[in-house]
Amino acid sequence: MEHKLKSVDLYYEENGQGTPLILVHGFPLDHTTWQPIVPALSKCARVITPDLRGFGKSPATKGAYSMRLLAEDILRLMDRLNIDKAVVVGHSMGGYVALAFAHAYPQRLSGLGLVASQAEADAPERRQSRLNIAEDVERKGVRVVADGMPVKLTSDPRLANQLHELIHAAATPEGVAGCLRGMADRPDATEWLGDIAAPSVVIAGSQDGIIPPQKGQVMATLLGRSWLVLIEEAGHMPMMEAPERVADALLQLVKSSLGYEKQCECA
Ligand code: MLT
Repeated sequence: MEHKLKSVDLYYEENGQGTPLILVHGFPLDHTTWQPIVPALSKCARVITPDLRGFGKSPATKGAYSMRLLAEDILRLMDRLNIDKAVVVGHSMGGYVALAFAHAYPQRLSGLGLVASQAEADAPERRQSRLNIAEDVERKGVRVVADGMPVKLTSDPRLANQLHELIHAAATPEGVAGCLRGMADRPDATEWLGDIAAPSVVIAGSQDGIIPPQKGQVMATLLGRSWLVLIEEAGHMPMMEAPERVADALLQLVKSSLGYEKQCECA
């Protein structure tokens, strides 16, 4: 049903040249969460940071935003930019989108990065709670999530304040409700992890209070060609809490994707 939602042209920013590297932000945030690592990455890659529909400067639509729909938005952006293959990296919900992308468009993927994310679907109680919150957001606005969420994202009070302001500025009620409904209905990606042939890195913060780092360890074990980067000092926002570690890991991923592309060409 969600596939009937109209297509949108995502807002994006682009820095650097070389291997296309698309960074997909988490919920309920926008592309600016990647800013701490863009300067390092853009020395070696063409870094594209979109705003998902309903967030930042991208248009919002009403209805459930399935992870597959959001992955289609990324594909449409690649087509607009004449990008055949990209390294796709997602933070948290952006990771669910990256996994949906890997499953639906394996031929367009040259590397996969999953930051503070997981492959499993929601348990029934979590699902129901998301659906209830979506209704609440439609009645009362984004403060329903903006006011309680930042302290769960990070233990750094300064960063939590920054994220509080960001959610108020970047999120629309349609976007928040649409993503909550889409996340509630997302399929379990565990089963298809083993089919992902592109090199993958899983990055997890040891202090993540939203998605326990063990979920990242499970993904790294099930993915075919992957490695795990566990960051002791980070919570749910590793790219903002430990930008150098995350940038290093993603540069390594870009290098591995080049090797993968060569192997593909030779095969
Ligand atoms: C996110 O950070 O994108 C979300 O908290 C993920 C989730 O709620 O599952």
